[in-house]
Amino acid sequence: MEQTLLVLKPDATMRRGVGAAVLDQIMTNLPDIKFKGFLEMAVPGHLAEQHYAIHKEKFFYPWLLQFIQVGNIIATVLEGEKVVNRLRDVLGATFVEKASPDSLRGKYGLVGGVNVAHASDEPANALNEITLWQQEANLDLTIDGLEPINKYITRWREAPVFATQDIRQICEEYSQEYCFRTGYLEKIVELLVDECPDWSNQDLQSLADAILGNMDLDRNKS
Ligand code: RTP
Ligand code: MG
Repeated sequence: MEQTLLVLKPDATMRRGVGAAVLDQIMTNLPDIKFKGFLEMAVPGHLAEQHYAIHKEKFFYPWLLQFIQVGNIIATVLEGEKVVNRLRDVLGATFVEKASPDSLRGKYGLVGGVNVAHASDEPANALNEITLWQQEANLDLTIDGLEPINKYITRWREAPVFATQDIRQICEEYSQEYCFRTGYLEKIVELLVDECPDWSNQDLQSLADAILGNMDLDRNKS
C-alpha cells in the first residue's frame, strides 16, 4: 500500500471549476483510493522552499517558488495500491504541450510547467513530502479527505471553465512576439476573471505573471 501527496497548484485552485473538475476526475479514475486530510491554504515561503528543495539547483527553482505562492493550493494524501504512478498517469506528462489530451494536464494545463497539480514522483519521496506537510502545514491524515473534497466539488462544479484554449492561444502569440510584448498580462487577466470568482485583480495579475514567466524560462533554456 502506497501513499502520495497531491497538491493542486494555484492555476487549478484559483480557477475554481478546474479545481473541482480535477478532484472529481481523480476520484473517478482512482475509485479504490482513500483520501486522507484536506487543506486549502497559501503556502508560506519556508514550506515552498522545503517542498521544492529537490530542485534547488535547477534554473526554474525561483519560478517554482513564485508560482506556488501566487494563490492558494489544495493538499491531500492519496493511499492505495501503486497510487504514486497511477496518480501521475492521470495527471499526464510534466509539460502541458506534451501531456496527452485525455490527461488532466492536457485538458486543463495552461502552458509549459503551469500544469494543474503536483504529485510525488516515487514512494520514498512521497513519504518525505507527506511528513513535511504534516509538520509544516498541519496536514492531518486522521481526517477523511473524501468529505471536504466532495464538498469542494459540489460547491464549485458549476464554476465556468472556458478560458483554457484562449489562454493557450495568447501564450502561443506571446512566444512568437519578440518586440512588442505588451498587453499580454492584461489579456490573460481578462480571461481569468470569470473563472476565478473569489480572487482580486492583483491576485490574477500574479497568476498571469507566473504564466508568462514560465514561458520566459523555456526561452532561456533553449
Ligand atoms: P510535479 O513535481 O509538479 O508533480 O511535476 P513533475 O514531477 O512532473 O516535474 P518536475 O521535474 O518535478 O518539475 C517540477 C515542476 O517544475 C516546473 N517546471 N517548469 N522549464 C520549465 O518550464 C519547467 N521545468 C520544470 C513544472 O511546474 C513542474 O511540474
Ligand atoms: Mg516532481
